[in-house]
Amino acid sequence: MNNNIVVFGAQWGDEGKGRFVDFLAVRADAVVRFQGGNNAGHTVAVDGKYFKLRLIPSGILYPDVTNVLANGVVFDVKGFFDEVDNLKKDGVPCDNLVVSDRAHVVLPYHFELDGLSEAKRTSGEKIGTTKKGIGPTYMDKMERSGIRVCDFVNKDVFPSLLKRNVDAKNQLIQKVYGGEPFDYQKILEEYSALADRLRPYVKDTVKLLNDMVAAGKKLLFEGAQGALLDIDFGTYPFVTSSHPSSVGVPIGTGIAPNKIDSVVGVVKSYTSRVGAGPFVTELFDETGDFIREKGGEYGTVTGRPRRIGWLDLVVVKHSALISGMDKIALTRMDTLAGVDKIKVCVAYELDGEIIDHYPADLTVLERCKPVYKEFDGWTDDISKVREYKDLPESAKKYIETIEEITGAKISMIGVGPNRDEAVLVKNPYDE
Ligand code: GDP
Ligand code: IMO
Ligand code: MG
Repeated sequence: MNNNIVVFGAQWGDEGKGRFVDFLAVRADAVVRFQGGNNAGHTVAVDGKYFKLRLIPSGILYPDVTNVLANGVVFDVKGFFDEVDNLKKDGVPCDNLVVSDRAHVVLPYHFELDGLSEAKRTSGEKIGTTKKGIGPTYMDKMERSGIRVCDFVNKDVFPSLLKRNVDAKNQLIQKVYGGEPFDYQKILEEYSALADRLRPYVKDTVKLLNDMVAAGKKLLFEGAQGALLDIDFGTYPFVTSSHPSSVGVPIGTGIAPNKIDSVVGVVKSYTSRVGAGPFVTELFDETGDFIREKGGEYGTVTGRPRRIGWLDLVVVKHSALISGMDKIALTRMDTLAGVDKIKVCVAYELDGEIIDHYPADLTVLERCKPVYKEFDGWTDDISKVREYKDLPESAKKYIETIEEITGAKISMIGVGPNRDEAVLVKNPYDE
């Protein structure tokens, strides 16, 4: 039996992590976000009602599950309360939320700097960030000038830290970017009120989570973004500023690696990407358009159309390797229905040689050509299928190839966005 499970995105994000975290959360005692911030957009659909979660963990619909924003998260206080208020309007009580005292706070100048630095990049350099202040907040953390939640809610500490930061950022904003300075007093007033509201949510989550582990409770770690957006292992610099792969869990929570029992990679049965950066299997034809429109592949956070391509198993294998992925939750098999011939990239051809590892150098990656294996598609509406045996034979062949090449076992298959629209092969908590 597994107690502590990681669910992470094995591609470039938007694989369907939120829906499978929600699906598994019924068995968990806590759902824990360990990195990123409200650059994430996780959709949970229950009986046709859609909840779009950004910062708040996808276990929030279960009142008995503790939902934790751990130390590795960058915490937008305003965004957090907007989300809480919206969820409350939808009848979700949100009484089960805890915020780490060690998480770093996103402040107004971080948003501004995110936008200004993107604007300054040439068109080929633009990352296409979500402009949620993620990069600048992690920069401050690493530079050791960031403001942690425990500092933020401490009335004796926050004003002076904020003053130092606003002064420094105003220099940068005015002198480097030619932008407008921030008013320290205004931010102090607004954010001190937010700090008062936040104080009851703040806990030492390192202790909380380790006590839960010691008591044999079940933790579910919810990745945001995807492994190919990892600052170390992704398509740098076209990445986010954190560790979305399972390597982010120990550092982002204080739970030691040997406490993790299983790692589930969420894999979309094709590939999507928002923002710039390499994408070897990208489709520019009507098949790509068909999948984008059928799947409604537009960003949850920014509304941007997502770039679409065939499933790239070189990418998924890379994610599996760095994350110790032993299981796969495969999503959107229903979206592929109606595509006549489905391709899967099984290797790259690089300057006449076949490789199956993911290169770091983007100029090398640019020369990589996909080597495809082709599958017959399926036309049946599979959204009502709940048992593996009832899937079309061609879909089974597709799934078996994914298992064979990645070496991970399929545990769940999404056949629609709703909580119940899934084929459960084996619940990861039961293995
Ligand atoms: P996340 O960021 O990984 O949580 O994924 P998003 O919520 O941003 O994007 C995934 C989208 O796919 C959402 O609109 C989900 O409702 C939807 N989705 C997830 N799994 C499935 C599936 O198996 N079939 C279909 N049709 N939609 C799915
Ligand atoms: P979820 O959790 C897809 C992308 C942005 C951009 C890059 C850096 O919903 O899967 P950032 O704002 O993080 O500095 O942007 O990362 N990105 C995502 N793409 N899904 C996400 O989250 C993403 N979060 C960030 O588009 O290319
Ligand atoms: Mg998303």
